[in-house]
Amino acid sequence: MEKRNDYAHLRLPEPVVPALQTLVLLKGQTALVTGASSGIGRAIAVALGRAGANVVVNYSSKAGEAEAVADEIRGSGQRALAVKADVADEAQVQAMFAAAVREFGTVDILVSNAGIEKNAPFHEMTTAQWDRVLNVNLRGAFLCAREAVREFLRRGVRPEVSVAAGKIIFISSVHEVIPWAGHVNYAASKGGMMLLMKSLAQEVAEQRIRVNSIAPGAIRTPINTAAWETPQAHAELMKLVPYKRIGEAEEIGRAAVWLASDFTDYVVGTTLTIDGGMTLYPGFEAGG
Ligand code: BGC
Repeated sequence: MEKRNDYAHLRLPEPVVPALQTLVLLKGQTALVTGASSGIGRAIAVALGRAGANVVVNYSSKAGEAEAVADEIRGSGQRALAVKADVADEAQVQAMFAAAVREFGTVDILVSNAGIEKNAPFHEMTTAQWDRVLNVNLRGAFLCAREAVREFLRRGVRPEVSVAAGKIIFISSVHEVIPWAGHVNYAASKGGMMLLMKSLAQEVAEQRIRVNSIAPGAIRTPINTAAWETPQAHAELMKLVPYKRIGEAEEIGRAAVWLASDFTDYVVGTTLTIDGGMTLYPGFEAGG
Protein backbone atom coordinates (compact mmCIF):
# COMPACT_ATOMS: atom_id res chain seq x y z
CA MET A 1 0.00 0.00 0.00
CA GLU A 2 1.15 3.51 -0.76
CA LYS A 3 2.73 5.09 2.30
CA ARG A 4 0.95 8.32 3.18
CA ASN A 5 2.64 10.09 5.99
CA ASP A 6 0.29 13.01 6.44
CA TYR A 7 -2.67 10.76 7.35
CA ALA A 8 -4.90 13.18 5.39
CA HIS A 9 -7.11 10.22 4.49
CA LEU A 10 -7.99 9.84 8.17
CA ARG A 11 -9.24 13.38 8.77
CA LEU A 12 -12.91 14.14 9.42
CA PRO A 13 -14.75 13.25 6.20
CA GLU A 14 -16.01 16.29 4.29
CA PRO A 15 -19.76 15.56 4.62
CA VAL A 16 -19.38 15.42 8.40
CA VAL A 17 -17.62 18.76 8.68
CA PRO A 18 -20.34 20.86 7.00
CA ALA A 19 -22.91 19.02 9.13
CA LEU A 20 -21.09 20.11 12.27
CA GLN A 21 -20.84 23.62 10.91
CA THR A 22 -24.62 23.90 10.66
CA LEU A 23 -24.74 23.92 14.46
CA VAL A 24 -25.22 27.67 14.84
CA LEU A 25 -23.90 27.74 18.39
CA LEU A 26 -22.95 31.39 18.50
CA LYS A 27 -25.92 33.09 16.85
CA GLY A 28 -26.37 36.73 17.85
CA GLN A 29 -22.93 36.99 19.45
CA THR A 30 -19.91 39.02 18.42
CA ALA A 31 -16.39 37.63 18.50
CA LEU A 32 -13.14 39.55 18.29
CA VAL A 33 -10.18 37.52 17.05
CA THR A 34 -6.69 39.00 17.19
CA GLY A 35 -4.10 38.08 14.60
CA ALA A 36 -6.89 36.87 12.33
CA SER A 37 -5.40 37.63 8.92
CA SER A 38 -3.60 34.29 8.67
CA GLY A 39 -2.90 30.93 10.25
CA ILE A 40 -4.80 29.76 13.31
CA GLY A 41 -6.44 33.16 13.86
CA ARG A 42 -7.86 33.14 10.37
CA ALA A 43 -9.29 29.63 10.78
CA ILE A 44 -10.85 30.57 14.12
CA ALA A 45 -12.43 33.73 12.71
CA VAL A 46 -13.96 31.79 9.81
CA ALA A 47 -15.19 28.99 12.10
CA LEU A 48 -16.80 31.45 14.55
CA GLY A 49 -18.52 33.15 11.61
CA ARG A 50 -19.87 29.84 10.35
CA ALA A 51 -21.17 29.18 13.85
CA GLY A 52 -23.28 32.34 13.62
CA ALA A 53 -21.12 35.02 15.25
CA ASN A 54 -20.33 38.46 13.87
CA VAL A 55 -16.55 38.70 13.77
CA VAL A 56 -14.02 41.47 14.28
CA VAL A 57 -10.98 40.41 12.27
CA ASN A 58 -7.95 42.04 13.87
CA TYR A 59 -4.68 42.36 11.96
CA SER A 60 -1.44 44.25 12.40
CA SER A 61 -0.14 44.68 8.86
CA LYS A 62 -1.82 42.42 6.27
CA ALA A 63 -4.90 44.49 5.38
CA GLY A 64 -5.63 42.59 2.16
CA GLU A 65 -5.58 39.21 3.88
CA ALA A 66 -7.75 40.50 6.73
CA GLU A 67 -10.31 41.89 4.27
CA ALA A 68 -10.36 38.51 2.52
CA VAL A 69 -11.13 36.79 5.84
CA ALA A 70 -13.90 39.33 6.52
CA ASP A 71 -15.32 38.69 3.02
CA GLU A 72 -15.29 34.95 3.62
CA ILE A 73 -17.25 35.45 6.85
CA ARG A 74 -19.74 37.73 5.08
CA GLY A 75 -20.08 34.98 2.49
CA SER A 76 -21.24 32.63 5.22
CA GLY A 77 -24.00 35.10 6.14
CA GLN A 78 -22.55 36.94 9.14
CA ARG A 79 -21.21 40.45 9.57
CA ALA A 80 -17.48 41.08 9.77
CA LEU A 81 -15.20 44.05 10.31
CA ALA A 82 -11.45 44.08 9.71
CA VAL A 83 -9.65 46.30 12.25
CA LYS A 84 -5.97 47.19 12.25
CA ALA A 85 -4.37 47.32 15.69
CA ASP A 86 -1.08 46.39 17.27
CA VAL A 87 -2.21 44.36 20.28
CA ALA A 88 0.83 45.54 22.25
CA ASP A 89 -0.37 49.17 22.02
CA GLU A 90 -2.89 50.15 24.69
CA ALA A 91 -4.50 53.02 22.74
CA GLN A 92 -4.86 50.91 19.60
CA VAL A 93 -6.45 48.03 21.53
CA GLN A 94 -8.91 50.42 23.17
CA ALA A 95 -9.76 51.98 19.81
CA MET A 96 -10.32 48.50 18.34
CA PHE A 97 -12.78 47.52 21.08
CA ALA A 98 -14.54 50.88 20.70
CA ALA A 99 -14.89 50.23 16.96
CA ALA A 100 -16.25 46.74 17.65
CA VAL A 101 -18.87 48.04 20.10
CA ARG A 102 -19.83 50.86 17.70
CA GLU A 103 -20.33 48.39 14.86
CA PHE A 104 -21.90 45.42 16.66
CA GLY A 105 -23.17 46.78 20.00
CA THR A 106 -20.92 44.64 22.17
CA VAL A 107 -18.27 41.91 22.20
CA ASP A 108 -19.24 38.51 23.62
CA ILE A 109 -16.15 36.44 22.77
CA LEU A 110 -12.48 37.37 22.69
CA VAL A 111 -10.02 35.02 21.05
CA SER A 112 -6.61 36.38 21.96
CA ASN A 113 -4.56 34.72 19.26
CA ALA A 114 -1.98 37.21 17.94
CA GLY A 115 1.45 35.74 18.49
CA ILE A 116 4.92 35.88 17.02
CA GLU A 117 8.28 34.13 17.25
CA LYS A 118 11.68 35.81 17.14
CA ASN A 119 14.06 32.96 17.78
CA ALA A 120 17.72 33.18 18.74
CA PRO A 121 20.29 31.32 20.81
CA PHE A 122 19.96 32.71 24.32
CA HIS A 123 23.38 34.37 24.44
CA GLU A 124 22.59 36.21 21.20
CA MET A 125 19.02 37.18 21.98
CA THR A 126 18.55 40.94 21.76
CA THR A 127 16.36 43.01 24.02
CA ALA A 128 14.38 43.90 20.89
CA GLN A 129 13.65 40.20 20.24
CA TRP A 130 12.76 39.59 23.87
CA ASP A 131 10.56 42.70 24.17
CA ARG A 132 8.65 42.30 20.94
CA VAL A 133 7.71 38.66 21.61
CA LEU A 134 6.69 39.38 25.21
CA ASN A 135 4.85 42.54 24.13
CA VAL A 136 2.77 40.89 21.41
CA ASN A 137 2.24 37.50 23.03
CA LEU A 138 1.75 38.43 26.69
CA ARG A 139 1.18 42.18 27.06
CA GLY A 140 -1.16 41.96 24.02
CA ALA A 141 -3.13 39.16 25.69
CA PHE A 142 -3.39 41.26 28.86
CA LEU A 143 -4.51 44.41 27.05
CA CYS A 144 -7.14 42.64 24.94
CA ALA A 145 -8.46 40.57 27.84
CA ARG A 146 -8.72 43.67 30.01
CA GLU A 147 -10.83 45.49 27.42
CA ALA A 148 -12.98 42.38 26.95
CA VAL A 149 -13.58 42.00 30.70
CA ARG A 150 -14.48 45.70 30.96
CA GLU A 151 -17.04 45.26 28.18
CA PHE A 152 -18.46 42.03 29.68
CA LEU A 153 -18.86 43.71 33.08
CA ARG A 154 -20.49 46.78 31.52
CA ARG A 155 -23.00 44.69 29.59
CA GLY A 156 -23.68 41.70 31.86
CA VAL A 157 -25.39 38.49 30.76
CA ARG A 158 -27.63 38.56 27.70
CA PRO A 159 -29.61 35.35 28.31
CA GLU A 160 -30.97 35.36 24.78
CA VAL A 161 -27.51 34.58 23.38
CA SER A 162 -25.49 32.95 26.18
CA VAL A 163 -25.67 32.03 29.85
CA ALA A 164 -22.22 33.62 30.34
CA ALA A 165 -21.45 37.33 30.38
CA GLY A 166 -18.48 36.65 28.12
CA LYS A 167 -15.87 34.18 27.04
CA ILE A 168 -12.13 34.65 26.64
CA ILE A 169 -10.00 32.10 24.85
CA PHE A 170 -6.25 32.59 24.85
CA ILE A 171 -4.40 30.83 22.06
CA SER A 172 -1.40 29.58 23.94
CA SER A 173 0.88 26.74 22.85
CA VAL A 174 2.22 23.40 23.96
CA HIS A 175 5.18 25.59 24.94
CA GLU A 176 3.24 26.82 27.95
CA VAL A 177 4.50 23.54 29.44
CA ILE A 178 7.19 22.22 27.04
CA PRO A 179 10.52 24.04 27.43
CA TRP A 180 11.94 25.20 24.08
CA ALA A 181 15.66 25.79 23.65
CA GLY A 182 16.44 28.60 21.24
CA HIS A 183 12.94 30.04 21.80
CA VAL A 184 13.24 31.23 25.40
CA ASN A 185 11.29 34.45 24.79
CA TYR A 186 8.42 32.56 23.15
CA ALA A 187 8.23 29.84 25.81
CA ALA A 188 8.37 32.47 28.55
CA SER A 189 5.48 34.33 26.95
CA LYS A 190 3.35 31.18 26.76
CA GLY A 191 4.25 30.03 30.27
CA GLY A 192 3.21 33.50 31.45
CA MET A 193 0.01 33.23 29.48
CA MET A 194 -0.91 30.04 31.33
CA LEU A 195 -0.99 31.75 34.73
CA LEU A 196 -2.49 34.92 33.25
CA MET A 197 -5.34 32.70 32.04
CA LYS A 198 -5.77 30.76 35.28
CA SER A 199 -5.51 33.77 37.58
CA LEU A 200 -7.94 35.78 35.47
CA ALA A 201 -10.33 32.82 35.24
CA GLN A 202 -10.36 32.60 39.02
CA GLU A 203 -10.87 36.36 39.39
CA VAL A 204 -13.83 36.82 37.04
CA ALA A 205 -15.65 33.48 37.24
CA GLU A 206 -18.19 34.85 39.71
CA GLN A 207 -19.14 37.47 37.14
CA ARG A 208 -19.94 34.58 34.77
CA ILE A 209 -16.96 35.30 32.56
CA ARG A 210 -15.31 32.11 31.33
CA VAL A 211 -11.59 32.23 30.63
CA ASN A 212 -9.74 29.30 29.05
CA SER A 213 -6.86 28.56 26.70
CA ILE A 214 -6.26 26.39 23.69
CA ALA A 215 -2.70 25.06 23.43
CA PRO A 216 -2.01 23.99 19.85
CA GLY A 217 0.94 21.79 18.99
CA ALA A 218 2.41 21.60 15.49
CA ILE A 219 -0.23 23.11 13.24
CA ARG A 220 0.40 23.76 9.53
CA THR A 221 0.64 27.58 9.43
CA PRO A 222 3.10 30.22 8.20
CA ILE A 223 4.72 30.56 11.66
CA ASN A 224 6.38 27.12 11.47
CA THR A 225 6.79 26.43 7.75
CA ALA A 226 10.41 25.39 8.30
CA ALA A 227 9.24 22.59 10.63
CA TRP A 228 7.19 20.79 7.97
CA GLU A 229 7.87 22.01 4.42
CA THR A 230 10.63 19.55 3.49
CA PRO A 231 10.26 15.77 3.83
CA GLN A 232 13.25 15.71 6.22
CA ALA A 233 11.83 18.42 8.47
CA HIS A 234 8.45 16.70 8.42
CA ALA A 235 10.02 13.36 9.41
CA GLU A 236 11.87 15.03 12.31
CA LEU A 237 8.67 16.74 13.43
CA MET A 238 6.76 13.46 13.41
CA LYS A 239 9.18 12.09 16.02
CA LEU A 240 7.57 14.63 18.35
CA VAL A 241 3.97 13.77 17.46
CA PRO A 242 2.62 10.38 18.61
CA TYR A 243 -0.42 10.78 16.35
CA LYS A 244 1.96 11.05 13.36
CA ARG A 245 0.39 13.87 11.46
CA ILE A 246 0.56 17.63 11.50
CA GLY A 247 -2.51 19.51 12.74
CA GLU A 248 -4.63 21.78 10.56
CA ALA A 249 -5.74 25.27 11.57
CA GLU A 250 -9.40 24.32 11.00
CA GLU A 251 -9.10 21.82 13.86
CA ILE A 252 -8.30 24.67 16.21
CA GLY A 253 -11.19 26.66 14.73
CA ARG A 254 -13.69 23.91 15.55
CA ALA A 255 -12.40 23.66 19.12
CA ALA A 256 -12.67 27.43 19.58
CA VAL A 257 -16.33 27.34 18.53
CA TRP A 258 -17.03 24.64 21.09
CA LEU A 259 -15.12 26.40 23.86
CA ALA A 260 -16.90 29.69 23.12
CA SER A 261 -20.32 28.04 23.19
CA ASP A 262 -22.58 27.23 26.13
CA PHE A 263 -21.81 23.53 25.52
CA THR A 264 -18.76 24.21 27.69
CA ASP A 265 -20.34 26.50 30.27
CA TYR A 266 -18.73 24.60 33.17
CA VAL A 267 -15.26 24.73 31.59
CA VAL A 268 -13.41 27.43 33.49
CA GLY A 269 -9.69 28.09 33.72
CA THR A 270 -8.46 25.15 31.75
CA THR A 271 -6.13 24.60 28.82
CA LEU A 272 -7.45 22.47 25.97
CA THR A 273 -4.34 20.95 24.44
CA ILE A 274 -4.68 20.05 20.75
CA ASP A 275 -1.39 18.54 19.76
CA GLY A 276 -1.64 14.95 18.50
CA GLY A 277 0.03 13.93 21.75
CA MET A 278 3.08 16.21 21.58
CA THR A 279 2.85 16.86 25.33
CA LEU A 280 2.92 13.10 26.11
CA TYR A 281 6.74 12.85 26.32
CA PRO A 282 7.07 11.20 22.87
CA GLY A 283 10.64 10.09 23.69
CA PHE A 284 9.03 7.44 25.87
CA GLU A 285 7.23 5.78 22.93
CA ALA A 286 10.13 3.37 22.90
CA GLY A 287 12.32 4.37 25.82
CA GLY A 288 12.24 4.46 29.60
C1 BGC B 1 4.96 27.27 17.63
C2 BGC B 1 5.31 26.46 16.40
C3 BGC B 1 5.70 25.06 16.79
C4 BGC B 1 4.69 24.42 17.72
C5 BGC B 1 5.13 23.07 18.25
C6 BGC B 1 3.92 26.53 18.40
O1 BGC B 1 3.52 27.27 19.52
O2 BGC B 1 4.50 28.55 17.24
O3 BGC B 1 6.38 27.09 15.71
O4 BGC B 1 5.80 24.26 15.62
O5 BGC B 1 4.45 25.28 18.82
O6 BGC B 1 6.46 23.08 18.72
